[in-house]
Amino acid sequence: MPTENVLQSTIDAIVQDGKGLLAADESGGTIAKRFKTIDVESTEENRRAWRTLLLSTPGLGQYVSGVILYEETLAQQADDGEPLPSLAARHGIVPGIKVDTGKIALAHASGDEITQGLDGLAARLEKYKAQGARFAKWRAVYNVSDTLPSRLAIQANAESLARYAAICQEAGVVPIVEPEVLMDGGHSIDRCAEVTEAVLHEVFHALHRHAVVLEHMLLKPSMVLPGKAHGRQASVEEVATRTVSVLGRTVPPAVAGIYFLSGGQTPREASAHLDAINRTGRRPWPLSFSYGRALQEPPLAAWRGKPENVKAAQQALLERARLNSAAARGRYDAKEETRT
Ligand code: 13P
Repeated sequence: MPTENVLQSTIDAIVQDGKGLLAADESGGTIAKRFKTIDVESTEENRRAWRTLLLSTPGLGQYVSGVILYEETLAQQADDGEPLPSLAARHGIVPGIKVDTGKIALAHASGDEITQGLDGLAARLEKYKAQGARFAKWRAVYNVSDTLPSRLAIQANAESLARYAAICQEAGVVPIVEPEVLMDGGHSIDRCAEVTEAVLHEVFHALHRHAVVLEHMLLKPSMVLPGKAHGRQASVEEVATRTVSVLGRTVPPAVAGIYFLSGGQTPREASAHLDAINRTGRRPWPLSFSYGRALQEPPLAAWRGKPENVKAAQQALLERARLNSAAARGRYDAKEETRT
């Protein structure tokens, strides 16, 4: 099949009304941090058990059309020997893979960071495709203060995101472009809006330079929010209108879909914000979720590493996925929140 058709069929499988993505691509350090909150040691077997639990949740495919995996998971198997990517695909969930190799300090730009992983990426993609991955993710992070991120960080990260996206498309893998403006810090919602607009503007400029086909990529942005330590928190409606306004100014309508990250919001906040965003009126792109913590926190708390809790954990995941699916249609009702 020509590469454009491969990319289009993956986009068609992922972009479905009322469906979003499950981000389960925590690197070794991050999953250890998440497991520590429930007193579970991060061994390969525990990570396999957790991710098998997520992917084998009955009915998850009603609300989730794709899952972002970590390299280790691509090679792992469920108890019956089925490879985890094939378990996901059997539930109607397209397997994807995080391909960046993490962030380091950006030289000559104190406080800024840059994401690595371009060297050898084309060869790695061939291996990931053979293991079942059809899309990829690369995350750039931007620390916010009165002076951060610098122009240099905005430009350097945009260039890396665009090179990554071009390499993926050439390999027939749909790129998810993830520029995350962090919620950490005491900045205002105005400052977040200003930084997010500058970041997205630069990202799309770079994507154009690298001839990335917008119809064959997905954007995974952060929402426009005040920093966690800011004195005044914003209303749900304010977050929605500021987010949609920044996206409208920077993201071309040709982009196949926008899938937000949750970035440290509570599960309920992430659902309420997505819902309000979808209630703001007609938009050129589907606006859905690609949540990690906001989908996994309730099931993780229910599981606690115990096989007898698997069913309860799966129910908690399914419930969160259902509520976010409703939010992706602008039909979430906070009154339906029960235990999660
Ligand atoms: P969160 O929703 O927890 O921010 O995770 C999404 C993700 O993939 C971060 O790279």
